[in-house]
Amino acid sequence: MNKIEVKELYAEYSDKDGKFLALKDVAFNVREGEFVSIIGSSGCGKSTLLGVLEGIIAPSSGGAYIDGQLITGPETNRAVVFQHYSLFPWMTVRKNVAFGLKQAKHDLSRSERYAISDVFLKKVGLFGFEHKYPFQLSGGMQQRAAIARALAMDTDILLMDEPFGAIDAKNRANMQELLLSLWDGDGNSKKKTVVFVTHDIEEAIFLSDRIIMLTNSPGQIAAEFDVYFPRPRVHSAIREASEYINLRNKLMAIFYDENIGISANEEYAI
Ligand SMILES: Nc1ncnc2c1ncn2[C@@H]1O[C@H](COP(=O)(O)OP(=O)(O)O)[C@@H](O)[C@H]1O
Ligand SMILES: [Mg+2]
Repeated sequence: MNKIEVKELYAEYSDKDGKFLALKDVAFNVREGEFVSIIGSSGCGKSTLLGVLEGIIAPSSGGAYIDGQLITGPETNRAVVFQHYSLFPWMTVRKNVAFGLKQAKHDLSRSERYAISDVFLKKVGLFGFEHKYPFQLSGGMQQRAAIARALAMDTDILLMDEPFGAIDAKNRANMQELLLSLWDGDGNSKKKTVVFVTHDIEEAIFLSDRIIMLTNSPGQIAAEFDVYFPRPRVHSAIREASEYINLRNKLMAIFYDENIGISANEEYAI
């Protein structure tokens, strides 16, 4: 069953210099519980697409649907994690997580919110840090807190915009494994439908059921790939697998050679 449907989506920005087309005729579906990555070069329209799904950017034509309903604004059935830590600096980590819960679930008491917050902080390895302020945590820990906040809301849909983009390689690999383990859900949270934006091919392959590659601006769908590797996935096992290496090479070849990728931008610029 499709959870998300994007149909003939165009998005444009207007400013004093005129109109700028960011997304052109984008159409795809995401099944319930599926993990889909959107990859493409910087400036190709990935964040714009996520903004449409979040409900903060209005399409210029076409549209996006959740459970068959046209998205017309933000709603609490989806949670968002950005690259730049979106925690409130004046709130402790626990209060930050509890704040997300307050938006999503109005009927909880404060002590219930704090109890749920602590459950999710424990899951992301931040137990013992609940009374710290964001500035007292490393970047990776802040991002764990942002993920805890998004997961605690227990939404059907999780929208992630390069959430590990600013994290060093080793922590990044740990965060990817953590995300997959949490995505599955358990007694405290349901399995999520995830749309994950990245410009990192290896990250997209490791995480996803399916990868949608966008062209350079204006973003159009260039190609789609299914990723069949069995789950659970761990880096140590996957990076040696010949299927993984083949898929990575194939995606990289398309990304570079067809001049739709990040480095291609620089390498082929005339
Ligand atoms: N508010 C805006 N006004 C005008 N142009 C914008 C605005 N936001 C983004 N853009 C332009 O739209 C294109 C797509 O941006 P974005 O979706 O942020 O790309 P990505 O996330 O893939 O890097 C870029 O060329 C960007 O400069
Ligand atoms: Mg972006």
